[in-house]
Amino acid sequence: MTSLDSPRSPLDQAALATLAGSQWKVSLHEEAPSTNALAAAGPAGAVVVADHQTAGRGRLDRDWLTPAGSALTFSAVVDPGVADQHWPLLPLVTGIAVATAIRSATELPVSLKWPNDVLVNDRKVCGILVERVPGSGAGPLAVIGIGINVDITEDELAATTFGSTATSLSIEGSAVSRTDLFGSVLAALTEELAALEGQPTTVVDSYRPWCGTLGQRVDVHLPDGSTLTGEADSIDAEGRLVVQGPQGPVAVGAGDVVHVRPAV
Ligand code: BTN
Repeated sequence: MTSLDSPRSPLDQAALATLAGSQWKVSLHEEAPSTNALAAAGPAGAVVVADHQTAGRGRLDRDWLTPAGSALTFSAVVDPGVADQHWPLLPLVTGIAVATAIRSATELPVSLKWPNDVLVNDRKVCGILVERVPGSGAGPLAVIGIGINVDITEDELAATTFGSTATSLSIEGSAVSRTDLFGSVLAALTEELAALEGQPTTVVDSYRPWCGTLGQRVDVHLPDGSTLTGEADSIDAEGRLVVQGPQGPVAVGAGDVVHVRPAV
C-alpha cells in the first residue's frame, strides 16, 4: 500500500476527488443501497462511491453484497461517444481497465472471464455491471458499476452468495488501499474509454490477451434458460463470445460463462 491506511479504513471524499481529477465529480456515501441506482440520475462525469453498499446489484438480476469496508464499490456515469453497435464493448473495456489496475497494484495473475468478470488465480475478484440509462440531455448514458473484493476474508465469502469461485485481493496475498485502487482503476478506465471512443474497432484486439475464456471448454447459461456447451473459440467485432458448439459456431451476446475443467 502506498496510502497510510489499511484496506478497511474509511474512505475520504477529498482524497478520492483528488485522485479522480477534474474530469470526474466524485460523491462519497458512507452507506448506500446501490451506487448504480444512485448514479442512474447522472450526469456524465459523476462518480458515486459507497464506503458500504447495502443492496448492490449484480449481472443477471443477482445481488452483490459485501461486508462493510471490505470492497471498493463505485459507479461512473459516462457518455461513451460511440454508435449503438459499439455499446456492447463497454463491459469489455471496463474489464481491461480493472485488470490493468489490479495487475499494476499487485502483480497478481489477473485475467478476464468473458465478458467482464475479473479473476485472480481463476477466482472472481471483481464484478462489473454496465447499465444503459436515458440521461437527461441529448442521449443515453452508461452507468459503469465496479465492485472489487479488496479485503473480504474466506469466512466472510462463505457467508455471502459469492461461493467458492470468488476471492479477494487480501486472500490472494495483496493488501491494497481502497483509495489507491480507486485512483488507479479510474485512471485506467479513463484511458480505456478514450480508446473506445477513438478507435472502437481495436478494442477487441486489446481485450483478447486478457481473456482467459478463450480456448476453454465452457458452459454458457443463456438468458432464455438454456445452456450452450462447447469450446470458446474467439471474440467477434461486436465483443460477442463465439462458441464452437455441437451445431457449429454460435456468437453469444449475453450469458453466464462457466469454465469447465477437464476431469483429472
Ligand atoms: C456481477 O454480477 O458480477 C456484477 C457486480 C457489480 C457490482 C457493482 S458494486 C458497484 C456497483 N453498484 C451496484 O449495485 N453494482 C455494481
